[in-house]
Amino acid sequence: MCGIVGYIGRQDNPRLGLEALKRLEYRGYDSAGGAWFDLGKRKVSVLKAVGKIKRLEDKFPDYKISGRPFIFHTRWATHGGVTEKNAHPHWDCQKNVFLVHNGIIENFKDLKENLIKEGHRFVSETDTEVLAHLVEKFFQGRLEEAVRKALSLVRGTYALAIIAAKDPEKLVLARNSAPLLIGLGQDEFFGASDPSAVLAHTKKVVYLDDGDMAVLTPANFYIQDFKKNRVDKVIHEIDWTLQEAQKGGYPHFMLKEIMEQPESLANALRGRLITEQGLAKLGGLELVEDKLRQVERLNIIACGTAYLAGMVGEYMLEEYAGIPTETDLASEFRYRKPILDKKTASIFISQSGETLDTLVALREVKRKGGLSLAIVNVVGSSVTRETSAGIYNHAGPEIGVASTKAFTSQLALLALLTLFLGRQRQMSFVMGQRLAREISKLPALAAETLKKTSKQAKKLAKKYHKFNNFLYMGRKYNYPIALEGALKLKEISYIHAEGYGAGEMKHGPLALIDKNFPTFAICPTDSVYEKTFSNMQEIKARKGKIIAVATEGDKEIKSVADDVIYIPRTLEMLTPILAVMPLQLFAYHCSVLRGHDPDYPRSLAKSVTVE
Ligand code: M6R
Repeated sequence: MCGIVGYIGRQDNPRLGLEALKRLEYRGYDSAGGAWFDLGKRKVSVLKAVGKIKRLEDKFPDYKISGRPFIFHTRWATHGGVTEKNAHPHWDCQKNVFLVHNGIIENFKDLKENLIKEGHRFVSETDTEVLAHLVEKFFQGRLEEAVRKALSLVRGTYALAIIAAKDPEKLVLARNSAPLLIGLGQDEFFGASDPSAVLAHTKKVVYLDDGDMAVLTPANFYIQDFKKNRVDKVIHEIDWTLQEAQKGGYPHFMLKEIMEQPESLANALRGRLITEQGLAKLGGLELVEDKLRQVERLNIIACGTAYLAGMVGEYMLEEYAGIPTETDLASEFRYRKPILDKKTASIFISQSGETLDTLVALREVKRKGGLSLAIVNVVGSSVTRETSAGIYNHAGPEIGVASTKAFTSQLALLALLTLFLGRQRQMSFVMGQRLAREISKLPALAAETLKKTSKQAKKLAKKYHKFNNFLYMGRKYNYPIALEGALKLKEISYIHAEGYGAGEMKHGPLALIDKNFPTFAICPTDSVYEKTFSNMQEIKARKGKIIAVATEGDKEIKSVADDVIYIPRTLEMLTPILAVMPLQLFAYHCSVLRGHDPDYPRSLAKSVTVE
């Protein structure tokens, strides 16, 4: 989730772009850069820096630089490490076309190969640089024409801001599945990823839609689709504060991140499923593909919510890929005597990639010569640098301390990994196709789940937030979801909550149940439905209140539950991804209703870099 700024208009001070970029730093911050058409030198100048935007600011010269139009970018790496070369803007061979990009170009490898054959020289490892060379290829004096032709060859997502030294009175913007807007100022126009970048200059914005291309000059602008049809737009008046704008209009980052899950799931899956062949394509595992064929045992190692994702993965990998799998807390693993052999691979899951226990466990596996894989969201983080191979989440920055979108994206990647490893082994072509088809529906199902459960979760929070104890129970795939529901509630609302495997109730926790101790029962229509149902009856018999998470169409559940939250039907192994969403929402609303800040719970940090 990078941040983009573009400017064209009466002012010729690129520092203005830098100031606007600072407002987007929350979107990602591993490196930053800017480019402007230098009015004196009549060429484009560039500055880049690794790290926070402050590092870029420090590189600005003391004297006044005079340039326009300009483009700026704050990067959250996807392709290529965190280096100055990979930071944006990127440019072509002739140093004519300069651009910044948010998104992923799926077919960049093919495009790059062809461009290299045609004589183009690349300097970075990014997918983005391909775009600059493609625009160069078609450039004949009018930037917008070249951009249009270039984008007709591109598959993927993008928000783009582009300038050209040989057509310096233009700023071209283009959008496909990544946010982009135009800010309408006084004799000036901005391009930006979100309104927070432009609020200091204007409250008037036009949101671009997928397939829109905007051509901005100092005097005016127009928007067309890629077939050159003119597109008319509504001008929106933004009345958000800067903080509200950064949260996309939501009161907290956590709620924004919960609601972003359809998008983060789509990003996790993009380009990674070959549905017709029933295969998963995981570029990050290519180098170890042959070694993975030999693997006979898996360890999954992680902490907190990432560990619970691993527990779900254990069920997936055993049931569908047929590989014996064990999940371990990193903090335990590092003090055990793990027995690793050449046929064991260890999978490390971490949103931040900086959790110390996870990192130390990874080092221990490496020291013993074991094969390590990682599922990590933050590109370039310590775990990604030290693992043998890995898969990125592409979930964008998760700012709320409570992990939400990273968790569901970890589950989606574990489903992809199951398909990948399963098809290397005994999984049939037909089963592979079925899994791929069901996995590909996840973003739409997530959107449906959030749409249908949001209001109800809030209502239920109003009804139940004063209770001081909760029990969460589930079985099989949804046992870890019971643990995650309880973790979310205690972490941000400070309500005592216990998560249990439903089959364990009569081995102890049932003694707690009375009318003051409500239970969340995660009970989708799956292979253990009847078992969980009878555990619910035992709770009912003790006058315990039950809130059930069930599959749409299940009327029977109402005979035992006081409240039912329905989620859409999906494959059993994917139910956790949908079932957890109303639990996240419930925890969020309880936290707010009890007067807490869900983004920054007491005593907790986003990244635990100490033991
Ligand atoms: O960055 P990581 O995924 O390695 O973090 C692991 C845990 O610290 C993290 O999931 C923690 O449990 C969350 N705050 C839970 O919401």
